[in-house]
Amino acid sequence: MKGSINRRGFLGGFAAAAASAVAAAQKQTVPETEAGTPAVQTEPSKPLIESAPVLQNAAETSMGVSFAVSADASGWVDVSRSSDMSNPVRVYSGGSGMMDVNDKVALVRIRGLKPATRYWYRIGADRIDYQGGYKMKNLGSETDGKVHSFATLGAAVKDGSFCVINDTHERKPCLDLVLSKIQELKPSVVIWNGDASNCSETIEKAMDVFIFTHEKHPEYAADTPYMFLNGNHDFRGRFNRRLYNLMMFREPCERDPKFAELGRNFAQRLGDITLIGLDTGEDKLDTNRHFAGIFRMAEYRELQTRWLEEVIETPAVKESKYKVAFCHIPLFDPRPDRNPGDIAPDDESPLYKNNWASWQRTCAKLWGPLLAKAGVQLVVCAHQHCFRYNPPEAGRPWAHLVGGGCNDVTKNPALFPTVIEGRVVDGRLSVTVHDVLYKRIALRQSFG
Ligand SMILES: [Fe+2]
Ligand SMILES: [Fe+2]
Repeated sequence: MKGSINRRGFLGGFAAAAASAVAAAQKQTVPETEAGTPAVQTEPSKPLIESAPVLQNAAETSMGVSFAVSADASGWVDVSRSSDMSNPVRVYSGGSGMMDVNDKVALVRIRGLKPATRYWYRIGADRIDYQGGYKMKNLGSETDGKVHSFATLGAAVKDGSFCVINDTHERKPCLDLVLSKIQELKPSVVIWNGDASNCSETIEKAMDVFIFTHEKHPEYAADTPYMFLNGNHDFRGRFNRRLYNLMMFREPCERDPKFAELGRNFAQRLGDITLIGLDTGEDKLDTNRHFAGIFRMAEYRELQTRWLEEVIETPAVKESKYKVAFCHIPLFDPRPDRNPGDIAPDDESPLYKNNWASWQRTCAKLWGPLLAKAGVQLVVCAHQHCFRYNPPEAGRPWAHLVGGGCNDVTKNPALFPTVIEGRVVDGRLSVTVHDVLYKRIALRQSFG
């Protein structure tokens, strides 16, 4: 009885009830050894757990976890309030009802957590021998045994910090640089501001991007949650059209049902800072002949506008001292030859250097006034692969920062990848842009 009381104490009733029910079912189907652990009935050819966990979609009361599995499995996460993993609660992939069985990846949503609270956790999975709807066996649980931890978000977070990476484009040497810097800075959360992918046709390709991201950093997101925002390249490829089957959409309860499809947008408190996530979509018009009429980014941007209109009136945004927005494609560019992304029908004009959006004038018109109304001090973007900072000016009260990307510096040594770091120091929001290639600080700026 004591165990069930503890469960309801830190996980909400829904999650706890689901976890308990599944655990009870598990006990009935799998015989236990004398030591009380489920017996594995066949000799597995290789470990079931193939990767460290990837934390994602950090929020006040929930956290997402995904990890790779080598065969049909139903993944789970044991969560505890203590580093010794005492009184753990097991949360299964698939939530309540039917557990998910997947031979590539386990996706687990942990719900009912307390804001601004540290938890410890361990991943595992039940090996499922699935031979048909009437012929399946649970062969027992396997775990990698390692305990990791995370902290939830919320207004009460003390000394919270964020980092931003972008345009890593599967380039492993660049990923080594930015992930090494993240490891050094130890932020509360990382915003991965798009173009993680080039073009992912298969889940295996996407898993190389998000799960097996770098062999030197196998636990890159095991203790630091990543808030992923799409870049234009993250919409490309057959699997990327359903990328939420690997990098989950955010919890549906975070938004009004009329915004149900906005699975990437967020407005989350990290202490005195509100982090606002927006998705600029593709860098070509829906009418562009290369897009076969299968993109509806114009509607997507307008739906986000209505979401932003409402979310800036919520306490999560109104009551914070600092507000920072993130989106992949820049919302501002002072250079007249840069394509603003609204040149119909095919993004082509002799006025511009590229036949794709270098910046997003449509999003700037839709979102810019709302960001100003909300008192956003800084908009952090990506996409151009070249660090740029523009302070506020008349008509644009927010500063605009573009992170550098992973370029071949033998062709242009002026381009370098960045890690953007934000934290509150002495009552001001301090933002530092780390040039991780030449190992210097490209910008230090404070706000508020
Ligand atoms: Fe890019
Ligand atoms: Fe991009």
